[in-house]
Amino acid sequence: TSFEGFINASDRDYAIDRYRETAQTALQSVRDRLGKTYLPIIDDRPIQTTDYIESVNPANSTQVVGKIGLASIEQAEAAIKSAKNAFSSWKQLSARHRGDILRKAADLMEAQRDELTAWITWEVAKPIREGDAEVSEAIDFCRYYAREMERLESGVQRNLPGEDNTYIYQPRGVVVVISPWNFPLAIALGMSVAAIAAGNTVILKPAEQSSVIGAKIAEILHAAGLPPGVFAYLPAKGSTVGAHLVKHPDVHLIAFTGSQQVGCQIVAEASILRPKQKHMKRVIAEMGGKNGIIIDESADLDQAVVGVMNSTFGFAGQKCSACSRAIVLAPVYDNFLDRLVAATRSLKVGAAHHPDTKLSAVIDAAAQANIQRYIEIGKESAKLALSMPVPDGGYYVSPTIFSEVDPDSTIAQEEIFGPVLAVIKAENFDEALAIANGTNFALTGGLYSRTPSHIDRAYREFEVGNLYINRGITGALVDRHPFGGFKLSGVGSKAGGRDYLLQFLEPRSITENT
Ligand code: NAD
Ligand code: ALA
Repeated sequence: TSFEGFINASDRDYAIDRYRETAQTALQSVRDRLGKTYLPIIDDRPIQTTDYIESVNPANSTQVVGKIGLASIEQAEAAIKSAKNAFSSWKQLSARHRGDILRKAADLMEAQRDELTAWITWEVAKPIREGDAEVSEAIDFCRYYAREMERLESGVQRNLPGEDNTYIYQPRGVVVVISPWNFPLAIALGMSVAAIAAGNTVILKPAEQSSVIGAKIAEILHAAGLPPGVFAYLPAKGSTVGAHLVKHPDVHLIAFTGSQQVGCQIVAEASILRPKQKHMKRVIAEMGGKNGIIIDESADLDQAVVGVMNSTFGFAGQKCSACSRAIVLAPVYDNFLDRLVAATRSLKVGAAHHPDTKLSAVIDAAAQANIQRYIEIGKESAKLALSMPVPDGGYYVSPTIFSEVDPDSTIAQEEIFGPVLAVIKAENFDEALAIANGTNFALTGGLYSRTPSHIDRAYREFEVGNLYINRGITGALVDRHPFGGFKLSGVGSKAGGRDYLLQFLEPRSITENT
């Protein structure tokens, strides 16, 4: 099976003194290099811009991580032209040749693991351990997609007397990757290297808030030996330049991960045939979630409390996979809630670079205000079970737990994307499943139970792309847990899974009368 064949990169074991030291050294060394300017890179050359934004550390908003030159529409046009030119030679190379470059990129990332973690920690305030896991995921994407393309390249041969049939895949063309800030390395790089492994050329438009990590991706791919034009780094405003790229007639595919609102807009815009466009565009859109974990009366509460807490408050709840609803059966509701509140109270809230921090600031002032707005809505419709003091100086939001939440209320239905949990009571397992399935999303979900019939029903009836039983619901591993949702969580594609590359390829069937 593929599980036996693919070995995931190992995360750092910070129980080992040496790794705690290398992490701190890297944080210091990267801190000394904060504040530099990063320009768009087209054809391996930096391009001067007239507009700039500052990317700041969310946990210390006066600390500038980097200045980003924002590409204009004309520069986006130049990037598309360059990607189009590069496609004609890149597509001719073997999967092995392309894969070797990506494997080299993976090795380079392994060699600078601590530094990459440090950049993630400074730019998006992701705690060190989680930043390190993200580096592992980025490494895995390179190695996995390189290998997957080698598997697909051989195609399928079906020969009969008098007839040879060949089924092969060819790349599509220019791919625009539009990425979010919450996995600034793994998701941006993952979508890009999938397209590249398959023989396409790529323009990466990273999220504004994490464009320094975007520049690191460009550095890594360049150092690994990617030819000019195969990958352009195009930091820019999503609503203008991002939207322009989506509409462009020379773009074949848009790989998007982000909010449902922007994802739906991209799907709509990409469906319109523009003058001189000779193909239909394909859109991969991976969007939000409102993920629930069911805790039934047979659950091991020691496991369930830790699993719900980590899934909810990891990276301050800013994961599409995060738990935002705990659906608890009535007999264990009070006990579970008391223990969850007590456990969460012990979480260390602070700057992400401190080794013992579990929860840091949210990404920016707009996110902070939006989450606070939901907390105010929650106070009107449910009971506030936990709120804690938080530090000053960054975009902090308290870990927040609401109890007695109505499953149809705003805080139980809308993606908040912050450290806010709605705890909902269910009278029986049927009702718990109905509540779990009762949102517009279908990304991740979980069940804590020791009742085989409940587990069996969850397999069949819990409508999510990634279901986890008796464990937390975040941290999908490449190949082992292909990741992605359906309903309004996405178009059903699975990053890090066997079907993912097929989206970047055109299948062809050739029949020869012999
Ligand atoms: P976002 O939708 O605000 O931005 C994502 C990207 O889209 C950014 O690069 C942005 O500049 C760009 N963009 C914005 N408007 C655009 C437009 N009109 N045309 C083209 N591009 C445009 O999302 P975000 O705040 O960066 O990320 C958080 C969201 O991402 C959450 O909803 C989360 O659930 C989702 N997410 C989903 C997954 C998944 O795998 N399903 C993974 C991570 C994040
Ligand atoms: N793939 C990420 C996770 O599983 C979003 O948490």
